[in-house]
Amino acid sequence: EKLFSIPLLPADYETYGALKTVRRLSQMKSLYADQEAADRLLENGDPVIYEVYELPHPNDETDLLVNITVLYPGYVGDEPYMTKGHFHREPDTAEAVIGLSGEGELLVQNREGELRSLKVAAGRISYAGGGWAHRVVNTGSENLVFFAVSGANIVHDYETAAELNFKKRQ
Ligand code: F6R
Ligand code: ZN
Repeated sequence: EKLFSIPLLPADYETYGALKTVRRLSQMKSLYADQEAADRLLENGDPVIYEVYELPHPNDETDLLVNITVLYPGYVGDEPYMTKGHFHREPDTAEAVIGLSGEGELLVQNREGELRSLKVAAGRISYAGGGWAHRVVNTGSENLVFFAVSGANIVHDYETAAELNFKKRQ
């Protein structure tokens, strides 16, 4: 049995026992187009690109993954900060992204190579059905905070998504 009601805020998630994952540039450098710009940034430290707050949950098909992500504003060269991006592997199920603050884009690409961009903003839902690799890009100047919900039994496939090279085009 699992029942809860908490504010949709990183601090409240942490109080409730959320696991916080910090993603720094060094952990995703190869995903950015401008490797020299990435190297220059890394010479002055290793910036945090985003943080994910994940509530403890059973990996059960009857549960939901209800993450909050804080994606910081910034650029690697002329490419805005973004999440790594992934497919959902077995089962390849949908994901909904609900903007909490800031603005950006949900970039999606399917296995046929079709690339689409959906707006992410406070009070908006962006929905990617199964079969779409998804990544969020912060195109604004403030933190982009968003809530993402998917089935709890998904397995993230980062490798196939990295090969897609799906990017924010200027
Ligand atoms: C869950 C989901 C999001 C992302 C999060 C970080 O399936 O899509 O909660 O996990 O925004 O992005 P990634 O996982 O691509 O590093
Ligand atoms: Zn996902």
